[in-house]
Amino acid sequence: MKRIGVLTSGGDAPGMNAAIRAIVRTAMYNKVEVFGIKRGYTGLLEQDIEPMNIYSVADIIHRGGTILRSSRSEYFKTEAGQKKGVKILNDYNIESLIVIGGDGSFKGAQALSNRGVNTIGIPGTIDNDIGCTDYSIGFDTALNTALDAIGKIRDTTSSHNRVNVVEVMGRDCGDIALFAGLAGGAESIIVPEQEYNLDIICEKLLKGKDRGKLHSIIILSEGAGSFDDLCKGIEERTGVVTRGTNLGYIQRGGSPSSFDRILASRMGNMAVNLLIEGQSSRVTCIRDNKYIDMGINEALEIEKKFDVEAYKISDILSI
Ligand code: F6P
Repeated sequence: MKRIGVLTSGGDAPGMNAAIRAIVRTAMYNKVEVFGIKRGYTGLLEQDIEPMNIYSVADIIHRGGTILRSSRSEYFKTEAGQKKGVKILNDYNIESLIVIGGDGSFKGAQALSNRGVNTIGIPGTIDNDIGCTDYSIGFDTALNTALDAIGKIRDTTSSHNRVNVVEVMGRDCGDIALFAGLAGGAESIIVPEQEYNLDIICEKLLKGKDRGKLHSIIILSEGAGSFDDLCKGIEERTGVVTRGTNLGYIQRGGSPSSFDRILASRMGNMAVNLLIEGQSSRVTCIRDNKYIDMGINEALEIEKKFDVEAYKISDILSI
């Protein structure tokens, strides 16, 4: 194996740069060439491909975003798109490809590997919605960004005796909401994985207020319902001024946490080593504190598990 390609795809996540750095440096250590493919599968199809070297990855371990940039490609989901992608990789003599991204990006890698390209997937998404790994690159940083914002919102919410609904990202996965809510002492956490009853949430808010609680923070995961309806519903039921804060894209940016940098460095290194060993169609994972790899087909079949115990604990602690 002489030449590998690397791309980042889907929503960017803090720590992707640390993974790219680890890939380039591990490859150089092993005398393997690396080509950076810009803008994910879109850049592959447009031949936006450049050789990388020691200078390409200098001074990036601490930077958010991805130096390779990212995209979501609809065309790459088609047979024609995938065939074109394989041809371009062949033209560049890139026999192996490392894809850093989420489930959707792994499906692209799976399609390429079915067409003879050696592929390795590295989980990178703030959503932490990939079933095969306990953590994906970017989740920890996004969680800490959300937590920092919740602390600030709590200050002003207390000063005004209000309720504040904080919407966080996560698509259909409630992990950012659950763990930011647990760590931030939220009164209620609303996630797509669990049903909720607004009357019960409001009763709890009023009981807290009667006891002298100055603020109430409700965390809403973006996939769990309408932000505006929730704010309105709470204010109507409780009569307490209810404001909303949608944290939005700040959760995707910023310097990666130490956890994400380490996770990314380990997984980037592992991905290159797997290719050097002659492995293909694998995904790097961390499970029960151990770094492992598994087949991409099996990885894509594993359903993401919601931590019901943590959810119950957060409810008990928020009385
Ligand atoms: O997958 C990461 C994520 O930030 C999700 O949490 C969110 O639903 C989505 O991407 C937003 O995507 P876009 O960048 O296309 O608006």
